[in-house]
Amino acid sequence: MSQKKPETSREPLILTGIKPTGTPHLGNYLGAIKPSLELAERYPAAYFMADYHALTTLRDPARFRELTHQVAATWLALGLDPDRVIFFRQSDIPEVFELTWVLACFTSKGLLNRAHAYKAAVAANREAGNEDDWDINAGLYNYPVLMAADILAYGTDRVPVGQDQKQHLEMTRDIAGAINHAYGRELLKLPEPLIAEELKAIPGIDGRKMSKSYDNVIPIFAPPKVLKKRVMQIVTDSKVVDEPKDPDSSVLYEIYRLFAPGEEAKRVYEGLKRGGLGYGDVKKSLAAHLEEQFGPHREQYEHWISHPDELEDVLHAGAVRARELARPILDRLREAIGIDR
Ligand code: TRP
Repeated sequence: MSQKKPETSREPLILTGIKPTGTPHLGNYLGAIKPSLELAERYPAAYFMADYHALTTLRDPARFRELTHQVAATWLALGLDPDRVIFFRQSDIPEVFELTWVLACFTSKGLLNRAHAYKAAVAANREAGNEDDWDINAGLYNYPVLMAADILAYGTDRVPVGQDQKQHLEMTRDIAGAINHAYGRELLKLPEPLIAEELKAIPGIDGRKMSKSYDNVIPIFAPPKVLKKRVMQIVTDSKVVDEPKDPDSSVLYEIYRLFAPGEEAKRVYEGLKRGGLGYGDVKKSLAAHLEEQFGPHREQYEHWISHPDELEDVLHAGAVRARELARPILDRLREAIGIDR
């Protein structure tokens, strides 16, 4: 008999998916990109564009293509090393869609009825006086099953996600458990969520949570002029330079301190509080810090965007590696189901 390494000796695989539904902005950077890149320094990681998840809402083909490329280019420009990280696109992995069907057959419909996103859509319909399921497509309804397939296809150990995705991870574990139970063995590995410390959501330029749906974002790689213009649009009260201000309730200061060195943020805090420092100067300094941090990567970003063939090569190479992980898992599952080849 061959000596097999015990399963536990393998380093945990970290996996996460990014739904390409908007141009990457500073909120995405702090909430997802930065922590995921840090994790990938320490563990084997697989990160992918969940493009078919975007299809529940995104129906413009040019935009669909553009957003997937923008997200991929952003991660690569900010330092993702595709030789280390398995970096790919969901729609390039046929195994995921095969697995989605198998999982669906072990997912109780009641479980999907309880999904937060689906329940929110129903609630919005009731609110508007529509029928419960008005304009809700089955893709939205089955979203959690596709996401479970994304995770289970590769034998993922840990999934870094925001608090809003916690329920999806619980559902993934439920579904995997149902299959393992039905066939009496561990066919699918139950993943652990890695929920980031609830870092307070970064505000957008209007003070609400930074989100593409509010049109209040600061894009990471907008041209310098556009970036500066967005920063200049951050809301403030109308206090003039000399007046003492309240940095603790200032959206501008809240964003500022996330991107300026600690010492400098402290000086700005005191200057605002004391008076003598105007919002305009803080905005200029913020724009300069953003340029300093992201500017050097912009050229790389532009390079990927203007060379989509190279970007495609990277993603296809990642897909080959991802499929190598998925194939044996699918084969074992098919065999257990009774599909012999
Ligand atoms: N649902 C996730 C989101 O909206 C994106 C996603 C799709 C994902 N598949 C995944 C995240 C698998 C982690 C693992 O943010």
